[in-house]
Amino acid sequence: MIEEKIFNKINSKLYPMFKNLAFKLNAETAHELTLKSMHLLGPWVNNTPTDPRFKLEAMGLSFKGPIGLAAGLDKNATAINFLTYLPFSFVEVGTVTPLPQGGNPKPRLFRYIDEESLRNCMGFNNAGAETILKNIQNSDRREKILGVNLGKNKITPNDQAFNDYAILYEKFAPHCDYLVINVSSPNTPGLRDLLQDEGLRDIFKAVTEKRKKCHRPLLVKVSPDMNQQELSSVVNLVKEYELSGIIATNTTIMPERGAGGVSGKLLFEKARNTRMFLLEQLKETPAIELIGVGGFSSYEDCLDFWKMGGRLIQLYSAFVFQGPKILHDIEKKLADDMTKRNISSFDEFRDSL
Ligand SMILES: Cc1cc2nc3c(=O)[nH]c(=O)nc-3n(C[C@H](O)[C@H](O)[C@H](O)COP(=O)(O)O)c2cc1C
Repeated sequence: MIEEKIFNKINSKLYPMFKNLAFKLNAETAHELTLKSMHLLGPWVNNTPTDPRFKLEAMGLSFKGPIGLAAGLDKNATAINFLTYLPFSFVEVGTVTPLPQGGNPKPRLFRYIDEESLRNCMGFNNAGAETILKNIQNSDRREKILGVNLGKNKITPNDQAFNDYAILYEKFAPHCDYLVINVSSPNTPGLRDLLQDEGLRDIFKAVTEKRKKCHRPLLVKVSPDMNQQELSSVVNLVKEYELSGIIATNTTIMPERGAGGVSGKLLFEKARNTRMFLLEQLKETPAIELIGVGGFSSYEDCLDFWKMGGRLIQLYSAFVFQGPKILHDIEKKLADDMTKRNISSFDEFRDSL
């Protein structure tokens, strides 16, 4: 009850005030300020209870609900204490690379406020595996699911990339619930070439070896700019190497807007098409999970994905533009819909759509 009151206050008063101030700043400065505030608030906030009807099992893990935070917001795992207080049932940190790296020159994060979209060309700026591992070890996850998103260093040539992913898997697997191979960011030169058959096979092979020693759910994150043939070849490799799932999608390139990758509402249609195609391809293998991300900005967008057969969803841009309110809206509407239909579990709800 008290948590609900605090949460309502954040939704109705604090976040709009904070956003007004933050949106006057340059986008990356605002992002850093937000993370610092989260870091400071982290230890002082209590868990937000989630409706027990939202629970679902996926990839051998028990999720408290279908909504999570996408990679890239908490790249260095400094805000887990705060983020797991919000009604995210899972939080993905990273992308982490073996060595720290500064990323691309600034400015590298841009807002399209009217279109609730962002464009970024960050380039995997992160504090590196050592520091991020320590941050994870020192955090309180509040029984939420923690994912770690893995990437290669810019200086690592593509034919050695498998090594970066294997090192990272070995380091982080004992300390998190699932891991993601990210080869779909448009901001590391040549990275997306690794989505092609041979590059990806080398990475899957190397990581599979490490996975024999410490088995964790493993996913690959794909790009919305891949054609159907490329997506099918990823699906085949996912099946061959027994990965646990696919995350669709990363940001999309829109050269008419400038360099980097676009996220938010401008990405929705493209990402939705990719998800629809993948869900069709994965129909016969329900154990392989498809986590949807890219352009979700309302409960109706989530319903659309659930109707298509998906379950877990990640948010990023909509969380930046709408704040925690979007989480509250989705939870409330989902709870109301379940009550109206007299349904007591998420899977039953999804099947009824
Ligand atoms: C500023 C920014 C940084 C991001 N960094 C990463 C990253 O490091 N790794 C990653 O896998 N995705 C990254 N993403 C992509 C998001 O995880 C997500 O796939 C994408 O933004 C689409 O979701 P959205 O439309 O809800 O924002 C980033 C996105 C943004 C906006």
